[in-house]
Amino acid sequence: MAKEERDPHTGYLTTGHEWNGIIELNTPVPRIIYFFLGAAFLFSVVYWILMPTWPLGTTYTKGLLDSDQRAYVDNTIKQAALQRADWTARIEKENYADIQKDPRLMEVVRETGRALFGDNCAACHGREAQGGKGFPNLTTQSWLWGGTPDAIAETIRVGINSAHPETRTSQMPAFGHDGMLKSNEIDNVVAFVRSLSNPSTKDLPAAKVAAGKTLFAANCAACHGEDAKGNSEVGAPNLTDPFWIYGGDAQTIETTVWGGRQGHMPTWESRLSALDRKILALYIVGLRKPNP
Ligand code: HEC
Ligand code: HEC
Repeated sequence: MAKEERDPHTGYLTTGHEWNGIIELNTPVPRIIYFFLGAAFLFSVVYWILMPTWPLGTTYTKGLLDSDQRAYVDNTIKQAALQRADWTARIEKENYADIQKDPRLMEVVRETGRALFGDNCAACHGREAQGGKGFPNLTTQSWLWGGTPDAIAETIRVGINSAHPETRTSQMPAFGHDGMLKSNEIDNVVAFVRSLSNPSTKDLPAAKVAAGKTLFAANCAACHGEDAKGNSEVGAPNLTDPFWIYGGDAQTIETTVWGGRQGHMPTWESRLSALDRKILALYIVGLRKPNP
């Protein structure tokens, strides 16, 4: 039933096809489509001429612009390696204070340090260096062995109670286990230690705290200091702040004083380069938050 006729509404011819009274219009392809087809074709011709396009067996058409993505990538990688060599040389050579003053270098320290820390230290100290039971929080102002970049780099180099011949030695004696204090004396000294960081604790009888204070001066102050603020010469922690390696509740302090503590931090001298250890020390200094 092909019968071409003009559609009275649009003025276009129909294709002459009709299905149950539905007639197909023979609408022409819009001009704009031809325009874009033409433009795309022209563009591809220009592109063939300028850029590498056609494979020719073992070679290919190179194009007038002589553009080569592979050479570009090679070049960029070379540039980046040069830049890296440049900043590693600077971090290796410059002292801590100068590196800390250079925001560009510190950005490199933060990026590289984060990766190094994640690979080597996070297993014990936590991904954000917040520590956990038995592992110190490295983001506070409270340090066992000192928080200067030098002190931290040294801790990383030799470790604590490690196999390194120059290791830092951390020995909290076992006062109960080794019979240096009787159990009621431990009770008293624990009460005193708890009162230091938490003076408002209600369940601490003043008499116990006072007795503990005397015991502390005689047994603990040599390492932890008269004021119990710690001593970075022997790695003795500050007992007056809210940061604890093992815990600040009565039970945990009692366990610490009874059995002693000898935390173990590996030496990294043979496992990380001097540069990596320097970057880590700077990275850790950068994590410090002011104490609340
Ligand atoms: C096997 C677990 C372990 C790993 C891995 C480890 N540490 Fe430690 N780290 C410790 C322990 C435990 C201590 C605390 C020792 C103590 O109680 O005296 C410590 C202490 C430290 C200290 C001393 C903090 C202070 O207050 O002076 C620094 C700094 C430190 N670690 C940095 C690092 C860095 C950097 C790495 C990665 C290269 C690392 N640690 C990997 C367990 C670990
Ligand atoms: C020979 C030095 C020395 C003496 C004496 C000493 N301590 Fe310590 N103490 C340390 C060291 C070092 C540490 C850290 C141990 C570690 O983490 O490996 C420590 C840790 C502690 C901790 C754990 C703190 C935390 O953050 O969890 C408590 C509590 C403590 N000592 C209380 C005492 C009390 C109370 C006495 C006296 C009865 C005492 N210490 C005597 C060196 C000493």
